[in-house]
Amino acid sequence: MSIISVLNPKGGSGKTTISTNLARSLHEMGYSVLIVDSDPQGSARDWHAACEDNPIELVALDRPNNVKTLTSMAANYDYVVIDGAAKLEDMIAACIKVSDFVLIPVQPSPYDIWAASDLVDFIKARQEVTDGSPRAGFVVSRVVEGTRLGSDVRTALDDYALPVCETTITQRQVYPQTASEGLTVFDADNAKARAETTALSNEILAVLATATREVA
Ligand SMILES: Nc1ncnc2c1ncn2[C@@H]1O[C@H](COP(=O)(O)OP(=O)(O)O)[C@@H](O)[C@H]1O
Ligand SMILES: [Mg+2]
Repeated sequence: MSIISVLNPKGGSGKTTISTNLARSLHEMGYSVLIVDSDPQGSARDWHAACEDNPIELVALDRPNNVKTLTSMAANYDYVVIDGAAKLEDMIAACIKVSDFVLIPVQPSPYDIWAASDLVDFIKARQEVTDGSPRAGFVVSRVVEGTRLGSDVRTALDDYALPVCETTITQRQVYPQTASEGLTVFDADNAKARAETTALSNEILAVLATATREVA
């Protein structure tokens, strides 16, 4: 069992979009997956409710104390994906504590990069007391195809000294289109969107596999 949190206090960075698609891609790989909606705004809940036979299970936890009890619930799944809350420091701190991996989606904009600063400090402080857990990494999200911005952002993110995923998530209509029906890009005819989502999942799984080997 591994817990992956998708966190960034900035709204609109793509947390819910990435959480739902990431969860579904892990499900497609044959893993059992639970999505945890930790955001009182309830976007992941709304997404889940929009599709009657959603193949992914979802639970809403809107208090930090509930997140602390997540580890026992998570034991029944291969992966738990937590869709992060905006601005709620206690909630974000609780998610960091229970996570094996924190994925930080950032839009290719300087405001988004600056806004990640406190979150990175939180994660690094936690890593110091735990010998490196949770692992963490950025993913550049909502990149407009054909622009150079994605690579400029990578250079800017280097200052944080946290890994940046090779995969970027592109700005594509298929993400909101499928979300509005409670679906994911795995239900649409868009090979590029499926490929980037699967590539992102594989990158995270590879990091989690090395983390497990180090502990063993
Ligand atoms: N890769 C993408 N392509 C197109 N639209 C996106 C993409 N990622 C997110 N969006 C849209 O941007 C808005 C914010 O995304 P969301 O996932 O809700 O972010 P967050 O959960 O961080 O607030 C939503 O309307 C969503 O549909
Ligand atoms: Mg959200």
